[in-house]
Amino acid sequence: MRFREYRSDTDRAAVHRISREIGWMGEGDEEVTDLFFTGGRTWVAELEGEAECVAQTMSASVRYLEEEMPTAVLLAVATSHVARQRGLAKRLSAHVLALDAADGALLSVVGPFDQGYYNHLGFGNGSYDVVFDFDPATLMVSDRARPPRRFTRDDWALLHAAHLARRPVHGRCKFTSSMHFRRACGISYTPAEMHHKNSFGLGYCDTPDGSPSHCLWLNADDMNAGPYRVEWMVFRTPEQFRELMALLRSFQDQVSLIQLREPPGIQFQDLLRRPLRQRSITHRGGFENAAHVTGGWQVRLLDLPGALARTHLTGAPVRFNLLLRDPIADLLDEGAPWRGIGGEYVVEFGEESSATPGQAAGLPTLTASVNAFSRMWFGVRAAGDLAYTDELSGPPELLQQLDETLRLPEPNPDCEL
Ligand SMILES: CC(C)(COP(=O)(O)OP(=O)(O)OC[C@H]1O[C@@H](n2cnc3c(N)ncnc32)[C@H](O)[C@@H]1OP(=O)(O)O)[C@@H](O)C(=O)NCCC(=O)NCCS
Repeated sequence: MRFREYRSDTDRAAVHRISREIGWMGEGDEEVTDLFFTGGRTWVAELEGEAECVAQTMSASVRYLEEEMPTAVLLAVATSHVARQRGLAKRLSAHVLALDAADGALLSVVGPFDQGYYNHLGFGNGSYDVVFDFDPATLMVSDRARPPRRFTRDDWALLHAAHLARRPVHGRCKFTSSMHFRRACGISYTPAEMHHKNSFGLGYCDTPDGSPSHCLWLNADDMNAGPYRVEWMVFRTPEQFRELMALLRSFQDQVSLIQLREPPGIQFQDLLRRPLRQRSITHRGGFENAAHVTGGWQVRLLDLPGALARTHLTGAPVRFNLLLRDPIADLLDEGAPWRGIGGEYVVEFGEESSATPGQAAGLPTLTASVNAFSRMWFGVRAAGDLAYTDELSGPPELLQQLDETLRLPEPNPDCEL
């Protein structure tokens, strides 16, 4: 097996073949496939001289409290049917992440096809996504929406700028490249999601320069009754959020169902009239009202000292020895520019946090996989809770101190990964 950078002139046909074979690309999707794979960092693995596996990362910035962390989003991994289960995808993904880490990415996030696979690469579960299916007639907002402005795919540059400026929450992921955003607008989809022809945007331009201040992007298979799916939303104030909700409510005379991913920090059920009654009377109907929960993303640290140098916590300082296991090390070749972050560290969490290679006498020891440690650091779950279900253990007093110091808001990328 040989790994090398994707070359659009010579690898185009092979990557089309992989994409077609696995159902990511249909008739007429060639152009968007090309656009997609020429963005970000794309590598291929060869088997018998042919590219049979492709992996891609895209650079982004993830917010950690008040700090922005350079991040590599593992966006696409695919292996053709002739090269499956030979370790190509895992090894190629590990290689691409090693290049990103060597280039300064502090962490990585992925939207996994299922739980388990990316755990081999050191990723651990992020927090849950809650998706609501609701009847817009049950939305309780007293505000009335002004007539919105229409946005189309041609407005993607304007919308991308608005999306980058959305509410700054812990965990927010900003794609620095507009490529991913264009995909979110249905302009250049990954083949798996296909071009969605019924995509449109609505919103308001209240910023002094006339650019979009709050807006949402929707698509629907059935433009008549719905469901309409809210792909993403941008707002920065309670008034803006309520106006967008009032806008969705105004669809009620025609649309029976809207699907919306709960925005970070907002308990969406607060806005629904009699949600449990709605759920029982719509149960098993064509427009069932319900909330669905999934672990839709995963996270791992790529640079422990680098990420901790940007970790500023208000809790009491805690210092300990860390024994960190990183499963990605087994997937990297000798020549990889980065070897994972497993090893021994002295870690301090506090206003100024740090991780220094080595061990110090007299400190308690935390033993963890990078998967579990990354979840604890990000605030997905507390150390004391991870000790029940993940690979993280230490003296009870240390776990309790970590729980108190790492009191973080729930992380939320606030976008599709
Ligand atoms: C997912 C995919 C890329 C894997 O490609 P691959 O080259 O066959 O993968 P690898 O050989 O590196 O890994 C396969 C191993 O992972 C295991 N595995 C697969 N899914 C797993 C899961 N959810 N949990 C744990 N292990 C899993 C397999 O059983 C196999 O185990 P083995 O090594 O013991 O035989 C390939 O199946 C594919 O292209 N799928 C369609 C596209 C897709 O869903 N891509 C992911 C987008 S997020």
